[in-house]
Amino acid sequence: MTGPAKVSPLPLAGGSGGGLARRWWSIPPLTPPAGGRGIWLALLPLALAGCNNMVQQPRYDEYEGASLFPDGMAMQHPPDGVVAREMPQEIAAARRPPLTKALIERGRERFGIYCAPCHANDGSGNGEIPARGFPHPPDYRSARLRAAPVSHFYDVMTNGYGVMYSYADRVSPADRWAIAAYIRVLQQAQPVAPPRDVH
Ligand code: HEC
Repeated sequence: MTGPAKVSPLPLAGGSGGGLARRWWSIPPLTPPAGGRGIWLALLPLALAGCNNMVQQPRYDEYEGASLFPDGMAMQHPPDGVVAREMPQEIAAARRPPLTKALIERGRERFGIYCAPCHANDGSGNGEIPARGFPHPPDYRSARLRAAPVSHFYDVMTNGYGVMYSYADRVSPADRWAIAAYIRVLQQAQPVAPPRDVH
C-alpha cells in the first residue's frame, strides 16, 4: 500500500488512464485505503434506496377490487374441501373416548410423567418443581376444580393456562382425555381441599 494517491482521480473515462483504471478496480472492496472509504459511504444510500423497492410492493387490501378474479374482488373464498389448521384438533377434542379402566390406567401413567412434577401425585399442587420456585398450581381437589367440567382439563392441556404452558405437542388428544379422567379419580378419591389463594 502506498497511500490514497493511487485511487484518485477516478479514471473511468478510459483514455490515457487505462493502467490506473485497472489498478482502481483491483482494490479489494472491503479494505480500501484511507481515501477510498468515502466512496463506499457515498454509495451506501443508493444501495439502501434500492432495498426500499422490495419492502414497498403493491398489494391488495381485503375488500379491495381486483380484476384478476371473476368476481372482481381481491379476497377469495377458500376452495371446497379446505380444512382450517385448528380443525383436526377440534375433531379430536369432540371424540371423547368412553370411560374405561384402561383409559384411567393410561391417564395415571401419563399424569405421572407430564403433570405430577408440578401437580404432585395426589393433585395437591405440591410437586417438586413448585418446591423449587415455579409458581404453585392450584389444588385439583378444590371446590372450584371439582365443579369444572372434564373438558376444562382437556382445554388446559391443549391451550395452557396462565403460566402453565400447553401440552398439545407432548400429550396426544386421546391421552389428554385419559389424563382428564384420571384427574377426576384424584378428585373423587380425596376430601375437598381447603381453598388456597396463594399460588
Ligand atoms: C411445570 C409445572 C407444571 C406442569 C408440568 C403442569 N402444570 Fe398444570 N399448572 C401449573 C401452574 C403453575 C398452574 C397455575 C397456572 C396459573 O393459574 O397461572 C397450573 C394449572 C393447571 C390447572 C388448573 C387450571 C385452572 O382452572 O385453575 C389444570 C387443570 C392443570 N394445570 C392441568 C395440568 C395437567 C393435566 C398437566 C399435565 C399434562 C399439567 N397441568 C402440567 C403448572 C404445571
